[in-house]
Amino acid sequence: MDKQPKITPDWIRGAKARGEKIAALTAYDYPTARLLDEAGVPLILVGDSVGMVVLGYPDTTQVTLAEMRHHVLAVARAKPQALVVADLPYHTYETVQDAVDHARVLTEAGAEAIKLEGGVEVVPEIKALRRAGVPVMGHIGMLPQHVREEGGYKMKGKSDPEKERLLQDARAIEQAGAFALVVELVEPEFAREITAAVNIPTIGIGSGDHCAGKIMVTHDLVGAFPWFRPKFALAKADVGSIIRKAAEDYVRQVKQTAN
Ligand code: KIV
Repeated sequence: MDKQPKITPDWIRGAKARGEKIAALTAYDYPTARLLDEAGVPLILVGDSVGMVVLGYPDTTQVTLAEMRHHVLAVARAKPQALVVADLPYHTYETVQDAVDHARVLTEAGAEAIKLEGGVEVVPEIKALRRAGVPVMGHIGMLPQHVREEGGYKMKGKSDPEKERLLQDARAIEQAGAFALVVELVEPEFAREITAAVNIPTIGIGSGDHCAGKIMVTHDLVGAFPWFRPKFALAKADVGSIIRKAAEDYVRQVKQTAN
């Protein structure tokens, strides 16, 4: 397999103009990062979804910066050609200084760009990160770090005020200097409008097929967290069943082995 060139934030930003759809996935460990890279995934997100699908938290709100650093270090050791983006966890970017200091912890661990959740309200943090030389990916729509205030994972972009706000957020994030924008759980037709309203690529999750790319939690793609799989997940494998069966066979074989 030909090794693809090192992917940069500029490469991701330019993908939309080139008409090249971005297929992004999450990784939290070295082997997954290597496998995704070998598969040609251009953007690997060390998402704070690690809290749910690896660490056993009920949502992403309890993930700490130390935990994110640990997983970024593991992914970075794979030295992927893919761009490594890391989430700033909840409550770590409430001031401009916090955003810059905490992003530095993740970039020193190997993250090549940072993602943070929010719209107009995080513009000062995005601008400060850009001034500090940190590439930024935005995240609008349903914001998992706010799931408790929101009372669940609800679709966005249904009402006119919500649509107006999402468009303002998308434009503000682009103007603040982000190179791409995750659009989570937004009505597909409206996600298409957001995509048309900005030049940077929108990367959708649960937002239909009309964004400039898609992102998925790899555990959802491969069935490695079988107790919950979102309805929109493209289910390509059933790793949970494979592990369970291998372990059952192993238990049976060990029990049957004569002393
Ligand atoms: O944490 C994460 O994995 C994410 C993606 C699902 C967009 O934010």
